[in-house]
Amino acid sequence: MREIGVGILGFGTVGAGVVEGLLQNGELIAGRCGIRPVVKRIADLDIVSDRGLAIPAGVLTTDAAAVIADEEVDIVVELVGGTTIAKQFTEQALAMGKPVVTANKALLADHGAELYALADERDTGIYYEAAVGGGIPVLRAQREGLIGNRIEHIFGILNGTCNYILTRMELEGLPFDEVLADAQALGYAETPPDLDIDGIDTAHKAVLLASMAYGAPVPMEACPTSGIRGLSKEDILNADELGYRIKLLAIIKQLDDAVELSVEAALVPKSAMIGSVNDSFNAVFMKGDIVDDTMYYGRGAGRLPTGSAVISDIMEAAADVIQEAGTPTGITMMREREVLSYLPADEVRKRCYLRLSLADEPGAMAQVMHVLGEHSINVASVVQKEQHSDGLVPVVVLTEQARERDFCEAMKRIVGLSICLAEPVRFRLEDFEDEGC
Ligand code: HSE
Repeated sequence: MREIGVGILGFGTVGAGVVEGLLQNGELIAGRCGIRPVVKRIADLDIVSDRGLAIPAGVLTTDAAAVIADEEVDIVVELVGGTTIAKQFTEQALAMGKPVVTANKALLADHGAELYALADERDTGIYYEAAVGGGIPVLRAQREGLIGNRIEHIFGILNGTCNYILTRMELEGLPFDEVLADAQALGYAETPPDLDIDGIDTAHKAVLLASMAYGAPVPMEACPTSGIRGLSKEDILNADELGYRIKLLAIIKQLDDAVELSVEAALVPKSAMIGSVNDSFNAVFMKGDIVDDTMYYGRGAGRLPTGSAVISDIMEAAADVIQEAGTPTGITMMREREVLSYLPADEVRKRCYLRLSLADEPGAMAQVMHVLGEHSINVASVVQKEQHSDGLVPVVVLTEQARERDFCEAMKRIVGLSICLAEPVRFRLEDFEDEGC
């Protein structure tokens, strides 16, 4: 049976998951593929810590360049993370004509175009299934299963850390920081976790999905991004009472003449499938013009789920190496190369949840309603509770769809009203009435 040599750069959470998966199922994989993946070398700065895995002598090294150059290494697996050293290693491997498998969404979101070009030039490929959706083979589904479709929309819960935090805050009433610490201990979070919490990790994944869908590298600047930092229990409770959950969403929509793209925390109906995606699970809802609605679900983070996706890429790269397939055009990106225009954030139409803290005095509510009306924001429901603390009246408003610019202007005016006693809170609300989510 043909052997293929694998060199792994980075022996952290995911690196160890890949090795564990190959040790556990290497024979099974070899039997299925007719190719035996063999881990020849592993590079990490720490070659001392016990990962609980039996690694043969001589495999571990601190010298990544030696792993890349090793003649027995046919495929380089980049699991270093970050965008500096990881980029150098990726370039070194590609320059030598070796395919690179990576889970590094930040690297591809920031430098994908130049790395794909280098891979093209050297007639090899970059494989990155693990970069989006952890263990869910969503990119493979997109580039193979949906190849005949124009993608109409993609909605995704793409960050395991945030989804884990949101789920435990909601179901167990735990504070944000405590749950974040658990997510880190479970190996879900990026280093630093700010990339998760502030939505940047989700945005990296969203631009990769959008690039794959629309055939052009999508710049990060095209994706207005916010996260879940500072999310309060109060908003989770309010959402719950109104029949919603708060989820960090990636939203990608093909409109008539532009693509709408954003990452933001949003209220989603509990009754929708997307509202039932909990813990570190991710889900991607993708609609094609021929296939209609499709859904992909699974563990979005963690050692073995991400390891599973990396292994699938190792085997695809191995088959390409053996068949001398050269640049796998459908993997590095779709080749349509449409020039895309992105809907400016101000122009996006959305529903919103507003939480206001108003003074307990006659006409306070009327003033707010007047401002919303003047900015063409139609109110769908208002809840004002009788429990007041410190003279503040909490008011929750759900709106119909309006333009983001109108929301921004209305909120500025509301903040300026003397009856507005604390900074208002605003989230998008997606009811998915017309989408199969
Ligand atoms: N930090 C990421 C997450 C890991 O929580 O989803 C997978 O990309």
